[in-house]
Amino acid sequence: MSSARPPKFYELTPAERIEALITMRDLSASESELLRSASGLSLAGADKMVENVVGVYGLPFGLGLNFLINGRDYVVPMAIEEPSVVASASFAAKTIRINGGFTAHSTERMMIGQIQVVGCPDVEAAAERLMAARHELLLQANAFNPSMVERGGGARELEVRILKEGASAYGRMLVLHLLVDTKDAMGANTINTMVEGLAPEVERLTEGKVYLRILSNYTDRCLASAQCVIPAEVLATPRFTGPEVIEGILQAYAFAAADPYRAVTHNKGVMNGIDAVIIATGNDWRAVEAAVHAYAAREGEYRPLTHWSKDEAGNLVGKITVPMAAGTVGGSIQANPMARLALRNLGGQSAGELGEVVAAAGLAQNFAALRALVTDGIQKGHMALHARSVALSAGAEGAEVDVIARRLVRLKEIKVSKAKELLLDLKKQLETTL
Ligand code: MEV
Repeated sequence: MSSARPPKFYELTPAERIEALITMRDLSASESELLRSASGLSLAGADKMVENVVGVYGLPFGLGLNFLINGRDYVVPMAIEEPSVVASASFAAKTIRINGGFTAHSTERMMIGQIQVVGCPDVEAAAERLMAARHELLLQANAFNPSMVERGGGARELEVRILKEGASAYGRMLVLHLLVDTKDAMGANTINTMVEGLAPEVERLTEGKVYLRILSNYTDRCLASAQCVIPAEVLATPRFTGPEVIEGILQAYAFAAADPYRAVTHNKGVMNGIDAVIIATGNDWRAVEAAVHAYAAREGEYRPLTHWSKDEAGNLVGKITVPMAAGTVGGSIQANPMARLALRNLGGQSAGELGEVVAAAGLAQNFAALRALVTDGIQKGHMALHARSVALSAGAEGAEVDVIARRLVRLKEIKVSKAKELLLDLKKQLETTL
């Protein structure tokens, strides 16, 4: 008698998962073909994106399941090479949705363009002249990118900063910040066009010399936050009670809050979730990484990106806030069919909403890592998945992969050499039974 339980998503073959996704998301014929052919970005497409192209580099593209964010279900696209990240994000999201899922929020998306001015005869007077010309400078900036203004965005504000003597080898330096609402785009090109365009007028007004005209990747005016509340009872494992798991997670958080050596690893776990979504959606992960780590060190010491506490009812409460310049429109996204598919799959359209999903993925990933670390350790789950990559590297194919992976785990020897040995044995076994 067959079991009536429908197979879980992870139990399906990749081809079956693709068909399930096509039905679930009502994907178009071209999107379906893109997944079925596993072709992703074409060589011709890649050649239009960067220089000296000789190939297209692949990464596994998986789906983070069970995400409930602000009452809405999301299937979260994740591109990542590390085993167990997609599984643990899905597991964490499943646990978190029991009590209502994530609540998430994003601020207005204000990006910063910087203009560096040196050698002003009178720095204070130069600053005053810039602010007096604020209105004209904003108008000029917007004239350099009318399409951004048409989309409802554009330059909104100016700020002048005077970098103190000693902060730079050249003495006092004036820095003009142009604050730009880039709507759903990351906006690097828009901002760079604006600050380059403004530079001659800034030189005229300040009587100084402009050197750098470039966006700042420290996007601390564009933040995304997520929060979750997890009741103790859903955290119990066969070996630990719920309150014990909470105590462990609070201790783990205290460790990260007190020690940068641990905070970096703690945040690496957060970035497993964040980067996977950022890469899958065709965004600039170096920009996100640089901003996030600067934000983690904003108080002068490198600190954890998440915060864990216990509320009065004894629930575990997790929070994350990160700078999030990811966009849902822009050249690199349009150029990459997998990124377009990832965004469509996500369902959300605005960059703010994408940021909220990314923040939730980071928090989920951190929760999963801490829960594993304070209970069974991460190796147990990790090794089972790692064993599959090792089996693949040893040349296992199809059903052989899982057989070899299981044997490697049982033998506690997850090495390619052992996998090759086991594969030879398996093939011999099969030959003799045929
Ligand atoms: C591994 O990729 C990430 C962890 O090291 C994160 C952590 O220690 O919190 C498990």
